[in-house]
Formats: sequence, C-alpha cells, structure tokens
Amino acid sequence: MSLYTGIIEKYRDRLPVTADTPVISLNEGNTPLIELRNLPRLIKKKVRIFGKFEGLNPTGSFKDRGMTMAVTKAVEAGAKAIICASTGNTSAAAAAYAARAGIACFVLIPEGKIALGKLSQAMMHGSVVIQIRGNFDDGMRLVQELAKTTPVNIVNSINPYRLQGQKTIAFEIIEALGDAPDYHALPVGNAGNISAHWTGYSEAVCESTRACGFCSGKCSYHKSKMATQRPIMLGYQASGAAPILRGRPVENPETVATAIRIGNPVSWQLAVAAQQESGGWFDECTDQEILHVQKLLAQTEGIFCEPASAISLAGVLKDLELGKIGEGSTIVCTLTGHGLKDPDTAIAQSTKPVTVDAEHGAIERVIREYLPEG
Ligand code: F0G
Repeated sequence: MSLYTGIIEKYRDRLPVTADTPVISLNEGNTPLIELRNLPRLIKKKVRIFGKFEGLNPTGSFKDRGMTMAVTKAVEAGAKAIICASTGNTSAAAAAYAARAGIACFVLIPEGKIALGKLSQAMMHGSVVIQIRGNFDDGMRLVQELAKTTPVNIVNSINPYRLQGQKTIAFEIIEALGDAPDYHALPVGNAGNISAHWTGYSEAVCESTRACGFCSGKCSYHKSKMATQRPIMLGYQASGAAPILRGRPVENPETVATAIRIGNPVSWQLAVAAQQESGGWFDECTDQEILHVQKLLAQTEGIFCEPASAISLAGVLKDLELGKIGEGSTIVCTLTGHGLKDPDTAIAQSTKPVTVDAEHGAIERVIREYLPEG
C-alpha cells in the first residue's frame, strides 16, 4: 500500500526535516492541475491555461502546504502555542494543524472582514479567535510584538518554514506538465506565496549542489534537475489593495477579495525579486473584474474558487487581450482557495433561486423558461 501522506513525506529530501522530525500533516498537496478547456475557446486564443486548484487542500486553501511545515517545525522545537494574523485562510489552516498537533492556537483577524467559511473553521477547530478593530497589517505588527512577550510561535509567512512548504506547488506542477509552464500567475497579498513559488521553480532547474539554506547542498534534490525553464511570474493585486503597484504601503486597503486586503506585505522584497528575476510583472484588477472572472470560471469550467483566487485568471485574461502574453503559451494560474470559503460573496452576485409552490406545473414552467434553445 502506498498512501499519499502529504507534502513533507513526498518531498522530504527537499525540505528541512530529518528522520526524527514529528510530521504534522493532513495529507495536504497533490491538488489537481485542471486544464481550462472552454475559456480559451471563448476568448479565441490559442493558449493552454491550467488552474492549480489549491482550494482542494484539507482546509480549502494553499496555506496547508506552508502550515504542515510551520507546525511540524514548531512542534519539533517544543512549542506549545502558535499565533498568526490572518485575513482568514491562514487562521483556518493554523487552527486545523494546531488541533492535529494538540497545541494551542491564537488567531488575530480583522473584525468583520473575513469570509464566513474561514471564520467558522478557526472557531470549529478550537483556536482562540481574537478579532481586532484594525486590519491585517495591524494584526501582523501586533503578532510580531506579541511573539517577543509571550511563548507563542509565529506561523505567518515571515516564518521561513511556511515558504518552504509552499514551494512544493512548483514541484507538483512540473511533475504534471513535464516542465515548468511559460507563465505562472497568482494573487499577491502578503506576498509570501509568489516568493515560495519562485523558490520552488528555481530549485527545480538547479542541478548544482548550491546550498538552499537548509540542506547545505546535501539533498538529492539539488542534484536532480526537474525542469528546463522557470516561468515568467505574474502577480496581481486588487486595485484597492495594491501597495506594490503604488510603490508604497496602502493605509486603508479595501477590496471584495478580503483574502488579499493587505496594505503592507511582509514579503514585499522577495516578491519583487521573483518578478524581476523571472522577467515578469505586477498588475492590478478591480473588484468588478475579480467578481466577473470568479463567476466566469465557475460557470464555464465548473471551478468554484474564492474572489482573491480569481484575480490570477482575471489578470491573465486581461494580459492575453493586451497581447502581453503571446499565443502558444502555457499558463498556470494558482487558484488559491475554495469558493465555499466565502458564500456571502457568491450568493450576492448570483441569480437568486426561483421559489414556486411544490407543484408539477409551476416547476415545469420554470424548466421551459430556462431550457436552452434548439
Ligand atoms: N489567495 C488567498 C485565498 C489567500 O488567502 C491569500 C492570503 C492570498 C491569495 C495571497 O497570498 O499572502 O502569500 O501573497 N491570505 C493570507 C491569510 C494573508 O491570512 O489567509 P500571499
């Protein structure tokens, strides 16, 4: 029997763990890379677009890849409690992995600004949910202060183990496609994930014994080149929360994509390095564009991602239209979280249910009204 048991077991020789490390896993990773077959036809472009559906991780977002590493290393170091600031997904993942590990979890979230599904996860897994009258950036600052005065281990992406776990997405994509794609697009909030992707892709083309910071150049991974190229990295921010585009922190970030409602990303410099080294770019999308593409993806391909995730595809569709991405390209969009995380936003923009009496004729009239013609 060879059960899939998560990213640490799968990529153990490429991650900072030893045989004695107590792995805390929920079998995260191994998410589907789904080719979008209808959209390229709709926009009349000869391109291959794939969605890496991270919403199918155990807690419904890519955060699980980072959290398995961060919590594993926290437990290895003897930590009894973890803490994070979050726009929702990090708190859901932290709460779940802390429960699995049997340690305490404190999450700081902006009051009233996290999606319902995410809040329910943090609560259900038994973390201590602290709502602050402030935004994510305030929470991030406070968490760093609190880690100095209380025995709590930070599991935000300033914890380098988070990015180590998240880099594994690049390995999976390369394994599925046989090489790295030409372009890789993703949402940018606190900017850790784009940096982690770039680390993964960079390690995948490396065949030297260069040290990665953890393995001293000894891991077999550095000697086994997986890919012949690295993708051009495309990072998209919501127009109301686009500090990288503006070139300065945004004091009061605002967007319907609450996951990326961040004005001062912690990994700003790493993200810019990924963009520059890859020859990529950052751009922004409006809330309207984000919601339009979230719905388009749900209704043309059957993939329900959350608003923040849809920005990767929204940006790509715009850049294809502008000719910035050429025909013949292979593009991967990271669909970072599941649409079920944010049912309020989904329902608000969808056609309302039709209510009728429980009666054959009434329902048949509705069917006839909505049947496709021909
Ligand atoms: N997409 C989703 C669904 C997210 O939850 C996040 C970040 C991002 C994209 C952006 O990733 O921060 O690495 O640039 N969510 C964090 C949280 C901030 O607290 O859940 P990033």
